[in-house]
Amino acid sequence: MGINFDEKNRIFYLHAKDTSYILQILSSGYLAHLYWGKRIKSIHPEEMIRLVDRPFEPNPDPRDRGFSLDTIPLEYPSYGHTDFRNPAYQIQLENGTTITDLRYKNYKVYNGKPGLKPLPATYVENVNEASTLEIELFDEVAGLRAVLSYTIFEELDVIARSVRFENTGSKKLKILRALSMSVDFPRADFEMLHLSGAWARERHMERRVLKPGMQGIESRRGASSHQHNPFLALIDKGADENHGEIFAVNLVYSGNFSAQAEVDSYSTTRLSIGINPFDFSWLLEPGESFQTPEAVMVYSPEGFGRMSRTFHKLYRTRLCRGVYKKKERPVLVNNWEATYFDFNSAKILELGKSASELGIELLVLDDGWFGNRDTDNSSLGDWFVDRNKLPEGLDHLARGLGNLGLKFGLWFEPEMISPNSDLYRAHPDWCLHVPERNRSEGRNQLILDLSRSEVCDAVTKMIKDILSSAPIAYVKWDMNRHMTEIGSAALPAERQKETAHRYMLNLYKMLEDMTSSFPEVLFESCSGGGGRFDPGMLYFMPQVWTSDNTDAVERLKIQYGTSLIYPLSAMGSHVSAVPNHQVFRSTPLETRGMVAMSGTFGYELDLTKMSDEEKRIVKKQIEMYKEIRHLIQFGDFYRLLNPFESNEAAWIFVSEDKTEAFAAYFSVLAIPNPPLKRLRLDGLDPEKDYRVEGIGKVFGGDELMNSGLAIPELQGDFQGVVWRLRSM
Ligand code: DGJ
Repeated sequence: MGINFDEKNRIFYLHAKDTSYILQILSSGYLAHLYWGKRIKSIHPEEMIRLVDRPFEPNPDPRDRGFSLDTIPLEYPSYGHTDFRNPAYQIQLENGTTITDLRYKNYKVYNGKPGLKPLPATYVENVNEASTLEIELFDEVAGLRAVLSYTIFEELDVIARSVRFENTGSKKLKILRALSMSVDFPRADFEMLHLSGAWARERHMERRVLKPGMQGIESRRGASSHQHNPFLALIDKGADENHGEIFAVNLVYSGNFSAQAEVDSYSTTRLSIGINPFDFSWLLEPGESFQTPEAVMVYSPEGFGRMSRTFHKLYRTRLCRGVYKKKERPVLVNNWEATYFDFNSAKILELGKSASELGIELLVLDDGWFGNRDTDNSSLGDWFVDRNKLPEGLDHLARGLGNLGLKFGLWFEPEMISPNSDLYRAHPDWCLHVPERNRSEGRNQLILDLSRSEVCDAVTKMIKDILSSAPIAYVKWDMNRHMTEIGSAALPAERQKETAHRYMLNLYKMLEDMTSSFPEVLFESCSGGGGRFDPGMLYFMPQVWTSDNTDAVERLKIQYGTSLIYPLSAMGSHVSAVPNHQVFRSTPLETRGMVAMSGTFGYELDLTKMSDEEKRIVKKQIEMYKEIRHLIQFGDFYRLLNPFESNEAAWIFVSEDKTEAFAAYFSVLAIPNPPLKRLRLDGLDPEKDYRVEGIGKVFGGDELMNSGLAIPELQGDFQGVVWRLRSM
């Protein structure tokens, strides 16, 4: 088992393949954090915790002036007992005070990993692949128990952490802050890496040198957001794809989060992540408990590449679920950028006919098929078919497409309500709102108050009725605005700040219900593109519409950044028309295909308007994708050239047994009189020989990785080239 306890020194050792995580119970009962990093056999705690009497560092025990919580590395720090750094939790007692003092009480270790339902979480398939340590902390005065949970996945360098608070006393407690993890590092010479951006430019890589004080990212938008992903990593200065230590945390949660690194005056760094304490509190009645979301912690001793492959493998195999975890994803066409709201069943069938001739397997009918929705100003919540557009209904349409050999998919935005809808006219208090305050709209819509179970039940029923009414093989679950005026008509005053988290819990319940009731359906998550591309959503839906930006050049950065954490099998990526609808750039169809092929592939343009030559190219792209999609979905991913640093991007997918690979190279702007360039591949077997299709030659894996492949001369802007490799 990967967890053992040194009873003499009261030290817990958690060991994964290449990682150790070590903590100690101090004689005072506080938990000290001793180590997280490359696997080591044992540790000398006195080397990690040095007790020094320092001015302005108070002492819980006046007899021991060397002991201050502010100067030792802690495992789950509190506020108020001599630690002035960023606390992991804070609880208010019934008397209004906010000082608690959790000390060690007990522990248990077992094989496997418990679920956190309704919260999403990583899981095991076999109890022997992971072990779990639970440490119980207790505060007698408050009647507060906290159970810190650590699961170590032994074959991956992953630790999953979360915390459960329980009110064991007879008085009310209020949680003001409950982060999922906190780690103190004995150094501050790090850079910080995160993924930030905006709508249409999600998950751009940002790195900056850590400075004294607090630095971090957060979402207050009621969704994990386009602006910041719930991911933060501390990295060695100058770390790159293959070098440097990386300590990464990612929150399995789709709502408000905060992630931060605090450098203190003694050059130590505290890294933490969890539900955003801003505008959050949670009342714990006697006997009640509160479970934090899970934080996934990944250690890589060899740069970002290995970190990403660890995340990818964990998320592909131990977070995603359902039949599409192992099943190849269909090539789809989505009608959104082809028609927007302007379609009818004849147009969709016409699109379907072209799609099936080209080898496409699924047609997705996007927004506008329900209520009276001809623009974005109405009908969300009225989940019944618009007979003006689809006079014979969905079943008839789906069967028509079925006759063409296509599966049928459908768009929903279940969490929303249009003020101009029958649902709103019937239930004006079913949206998130605050009495006597304006209800701000986003895209002409309000957000349903999912903290109310009757609201969830009503929407779930409408959607289930639609899904049962026709052979629907795919659902796109969209969410197109962020939360404002957060409040619930159904919650008492003291629970108003619970609304946003209750919303998330009930959303997860709805998703669990929906996905388990329709297990054969492929669910794709979306929030105006990638506004909720997070592990919480991946637990229910194995792919996500990566961005509303379908421009091939912009997608290089978006997909590259996203690949830092999320598997390529999760990234919906489509070929769209030119000039592109978001940035008005024209890129070659071939390049658009190569970029989109590096994810779950599809088209989002009017295929009926394509020339014969364009159709020929598309047909070839689809044939190629069908040959390589097992590599995209199940292979290992290596980034080769970073589009944030240069005019180029490149990557390679390699099968687990290293017998096959698919590499792609892109050059953004043409360079006059260019140098003769080579691309060094990665991830291959140096002992194997590979035939490179297109070039028609055989190269050693060692040659391809060290000397590289000659990049052919590419003419013009926005060019790309792909290579298919097979071992001999
Ligand atoms: C936002 C999504 O990201 C788009 O793909 C499309 O589904 C629209 N919503 C429809 O309203």
